[in-house]
Amino acid sequence: MADRFAARDVIIAKRDGMELSDAQIDWVIDAYSRGAVADEQMSALAMAIVLNGMNRREISRWTDAMIRSGERMDFTGLARPTVDKHSTGGVGDKITLPLAPLVAACGAGVPQLSGRGLGHTGGTLDKLESIPGWRGGLSPDEILDVLGRAGAVICETGDELARADKKLYALRDVTGTVESIALIASSIMCKKIAEGVGAVVLDVKTGSGAFMKEPEQARELAQIMVTLGLDAGVPTTALITRMDVPLGRTAGNSVEVTESVEVLAGGGPDDVRELTLVLAREMLAAVGMDAVDPADVLDDGRAMDSWRRLIRAQGGDPDAPLPLGRESQDLLAPRDGVITRLDAYGVGVAAWRLGAGRARKEDPVQAGAGVRWYVSQGDEVREGQPLATMYTDTPFRFGAALADLEHAISVGDPADAAEPMPLVLDRIGA
Ligand code: URA
Repeated sequence: MADRFAARDVIIAKRDGMELSDAQIDWVIDAYSRGAVADEQMSALAMAIVLNGMNRREISRWTDAMIRSGERMDFTGLARPTVDKHSTGGVGDKITLPLAPLVAACGAGVPQLSGRGLGHTGGTLDKLESIPGWRGGLSPDEILDVLGRAGAVICETGDELARADKKLYALRDVTGTVESIALIASSIMCKKIAEGVGAVVLDVKTGSGAFMKEPEQARELAQIMVTLGLDAGVPTTALITRMDVPLGRTAGNSVEVTESVEVLAGGGPDDVRELTLVLAREMLAAVGMDAVDPADVLDDGRAMDSWRRLIRAQGGDPDAPLPLGRESQDLLAPRDGVITRLDAYGVGVAAWRLGAGRARKEDPVQAGAGVRWYVSQGDEVREGQPLATMYTDTPFRFGAALADLEHAISVGDPADAAEPMPLVLDRIGA
């Protein structure tokens, strides 16, 4: 495409609160992909979008332009109908691990393109890589092969899919421009649409541990993503789910795999099991397979068999012991009382400080780093009782992580105990 526009003019237009035309959007995404718009120019434009937003037409065109910047995948040759779940990210959000094999065991195909943790939020690929031998970086042929054999695949988004998003997301991460409804919606949906699945179910998190702190922002994001999916002919629904408290009882890498396996064995924390089943029912309904009850498939061991097939098909050993941080330290209750607050953001930051997450995209993570907590909001506790355990290979990290955890888990009087939000706040879609 010839350079019909100057990046500076596009930046100034958005800075001054104007709408970008379709031609400007097509040009800027294409020019950024081929290096004709520089990173500093794209960061300025992203910041202008964070500050001034984009309307529905602009978001839709931006999403289309990102899809056109890369290749599309095609699962139409697969015998099963395909469906993918995408979470906007949270703390202790290990749901993909039990969900993908469960939905596969119910008969649907689940090509689950996943990401790595960033900041205080965990990443599915980082968690699964704590299983010895497991690999998430698969070629397109390997993705189809694993899907055919296991019914599900959990893998990295390849470089070919929505190329502009890969470049832009990395840039947004280091320029404080992630938190924009327009940019998040287009970033997520361009990948889901380019992936070519039969249906998409979105888990839009809200609360302190989510990007969208307020339920109203989460609803707006969900509505835009559902519309983008439907406009592209992909049946899309969204659940708004709570992230004021962390999910389950663990945040980190191997600790979350262990908890997921407990859920696949029919146990595990109630909220993880419940959200897994709610999302499984949404996914199955989206592809017309709602006659199957996923609770039966979880309880009779078929979901566990499916997990073992999936892990093996991606090179992992489902029976291998998982690494756990070499050093551990407990957080003890400072007094008798009840748990008045269990804050998702603070727990996520503590896990990140222990080495479960990375400060820069290229940093390694510790497979065994994380936090396990033993209490929920409203629980009675006695002075000196362990409330949580921190794990890491690098004990110099305990000081800062403990400070975050002490702040995140408060003990007080029953009258001061915060009520957690309901697990599922809303559903958007047909
Ligand atoms: N996940 C994405 O893929 N993109 C965003 O912008 C935020 C979360």
